[in-house]
Amino acid sequence: MTQALSLAGRTALVTGGARGIGKAIAETLAARGAKVAIADLRIDLAEETAKEVTNNFGVETISLEVDVADTASVKAMAKETIKAFGQVDILVNNAGITRDGLVMRMKEKDWDMVLDINLKGAFNCAQALSRPMMKARYGRIINITSVSGVVGQAGQANYSSSKAGLIGLTKALAKEFGSRNITVNAIAPGFIETVLTENLPEEIKEFSLKLTPLGKFGTPKDVANAVAFLAAEESSFITGVVLNVDGGMVM
Ligand SMILES: NC(=O)c1ccc[n+]([C@@H]2O[C@H](COP(=O)([O-])OP(=O)(O)OC[C@H]3O[C@@H](n4cnc5c(N)ncnc54)[C@H](O)[C@@H]3O)[C@@H](O)[C@H]2O)c1
Repeated sequence: MTQALSLAGRTALVTGGARGIGKAIAETLAARGAKVAIADLRIDLAEETAKEVTNNFGVETISLEVDVADTASVKAMAKETIKAFGQVDILVNNAGITRDGLVMRMKEKDWDMVLDINLKGAFNCAQALSRPMMKARYGRIINITSVSGVVGQAGQANYSSSKAGLIGLTKALAKEFGSRNITVNAIAPGFIETVLTENLPEEIKEFSLKLTPLGKFGTPKDVANAVAFLAAEESSFITGVVLNVDGGMVM
């Protein structure tokens, strides 16, 4: 009998998989038996992470340099992954950045960059990898959005917009791909301790903690466990949902 929530025989690609939440996702999918492609702007870190994942979990991994905002770069990434693995069953659109600031002072380049990476990046990857998924009549696309995209956050007009857009993209793709047995879901993390959040001012951290009924910050592993669930065979009747992994911050 296969183990519950096993991903043995599956292949996954995690964007922004070199560190933080993406790395935890790569590790968790590997622990359940999936081969993992780690795609990141930082190829140095991606290579290290890929080696670590293979050593720790005994699965095949590859590392790829990609800028998800760049369509040509994403096409090359998809081609290379299919060449190495033959198929990508699970796509996790995790690469994301913040460039926070009040609207009055927000630079056009900071708006564009956040939208290009967080939203267009996910579109690029879904477009490049959905064709082979359609052919295989199997796929799991999981988009890492944020509670900031669900409720909006002052000082994050660009980030909240990109993450809200990602929720719209999730639902549109879920409808478009449903008949091909491809599910598309989003995960909205609350405050997770990573490089992205470590330099936030103390008062923002305290404020976030007060808003979290479970009274603690989340870990990358908390997000990764939810990804592994949505990536599994067992969640085959779940599509178009936004799963908050936020200690109850938004409900
Ligand atoms: N940390 C949190 O509290 C939190 C909360 C909600 C949502 N998220 C989301 O989770 C995801 C991961 O966040 P994290 O905290 O691990 O951040 P992180 O900065 O630690 O990791 C992001 C990774 O994405 C890569 N990346 C950045 N731009 C890229 C590009 N253009 N192409 C390819 N890779 C690129 C980075 O090199 C890095 O490895 C992001 O989408 C973020 O918005 C994080």
